[in-house]
Amino acid sequence: MRVLLVGGGGREHAIAEAIARSRKNPELYVAMSKKNPGIARLCKDSLLIKETDPSIVDFAIKNGIGLAVIGPEAPLAAGIPDKLWDAGIPVVGPRRLAAQIEFDKAWTREFMKKYGIAGLPGFRVFRKGGHGTDEYIDELKDVVIKPAGLTGGKGVKVMGDHFDINGAKDYAREVLKNDDLVIEERLIGEEFTVQAFVDGSTLAFAPAVQDHKRAYEGDRGPNTGGMGSYNDSRDILPFMKESDYIEAKKIMGDTVHAIRKETGVPYQGVLYGQFMATKKGISVIEFNARFGDPEAMNVLPLLGNDFLDVCTGIVNCTLDKMKVIFNKQATVCKYSVPEGYPENPVRDSEVEIGDIRDSLLFYSSVYEKDNKIYTTGSRAIAVLGIAGTIKEAEKNAEAGLSGLKGRLFSRHDIGTESLIRKRVQHIKDLRGY
Ligand code: AMP
Ligand code: GLY
Repeated sequence: MRVLLVGGGGREHAIAEAIARSRKNPELYVAMSKKNPGIARLCKDSLLIKETDPSIVDFAIKNGIGLAVIGPEAPLAAGIPDKLWDAGIPVVGPRRLAAQIEFDKAWTREFMKKYGIAGLPGFRVFRKGGHGTDEYIDELKDVVIKPAGLTGGKGVKVMGDHFDINGAKDYAREVLKNDDLVIEERLIGEEFTVQAFVDGSTLAFAPAVQDHKRAYEGDRGPNTGGMGSYNDSRDILPFMKESDYIEAKKIMGDTVHAIRKETGVPYQGVLYGQFMATKKGISVIEFNARFGDPEAMNVLPLLGNDFLDVCTGIVNCTLDKMKVIFNKQATVCKYSVPEGYPENPVRDSEVEIGDIRDSLLFYSSVYEKDNKIYTTGSRAIAVLGIAGTIKEAEKNAEAGLSGLKGRLFSRHDIGTESLIRKRVQHIKDLRGY
């Protein structure tokens, strides 16, 4: 089978590995904006192109592609899946109407309200050019300000972390000049992610993962695309209750069914639910219409099925006929990023890759020149440790990081016992158990 992958980051390297592991002997074709050295080694041919460019469809037709898998959000928002389906090519990645769940935060909150989906924080949508934000901020007091459109994870600002109440008001007025805006209640708790394969009605869930958004150890510094993530050797994380995971699964299932009702389009692809475990139960922070980066790197290597069988289940709406399993192992993923990231990253700086021991390596935003690897300015390379416990997996990830040399840094605290203990204590304090 000939498979097209769209995207060229660390998440897509993990997807490419999962495709390459298939027993169906797939031939991989890739459309990516920069040549990812890890993906380039796995594919038969690649097209360097903006990942929203509709001529990706011509590339797919020309190469007789039988299945397409979309990695990032931008091609979903650009309707690349719709165009591929129209050309008779089945796609893992929702059509534009269904992908609104990620790229229009205002739509999503109003949709959740309309369908009575649980976990909805207090919110109000303001339309571009409108007013009244100051009054609503005064009413809620503790707020998060979200531009409605895609901002690469950098547009959302949280009171306490990014500004005080006056700063929140200024930022809201600023955003409203150019974009729709959501102002919502700030949730207090611990974040977790649940990802699922979805065929329009059936969902197959991966274990919960926790990402680390802040650039520096101890959850300090600016927000990033995600510095690293971990999961346990069971479905839940150490700070979660089983009921948190059950509620998350119910919310995601209800969301998939409501999307079909609202848009008339089945949701086929990966649904990513980001939740906050709070004092009482869980709340929805956001949905993404794709795997997370780094969270894809935690769960795809644990997939017990042939990834292409799962993809076939998604596009043929037959996931209910198969049992999707994830191996019961813990993983810890740590990104190595350029010095100065995210604000003033060192670009074009060489990365030497030595012995990464038993860890897996995923290339993200790096390029290869004369057999050497260089940084671009975004997250560079991720390593993944896999083991029976988080503790062992963390050691494996650290062993992997020690094989990377260059002007780079990582968050060495991700997956460590002390940070996990802190998370558990935080939830105990909130919930009083
Ligand atoms: P997003 O771009 O929607 O993933 O948001 C970025 C980050 O903002 C999330 O990972 C959370 O840490 C934080 N965030 C978003 N919404 C809320 C909320 N309602 N309460 C607290 N934090 C939030
Ligand atoms: N790691 C967060 C995301 O992929 O959106």
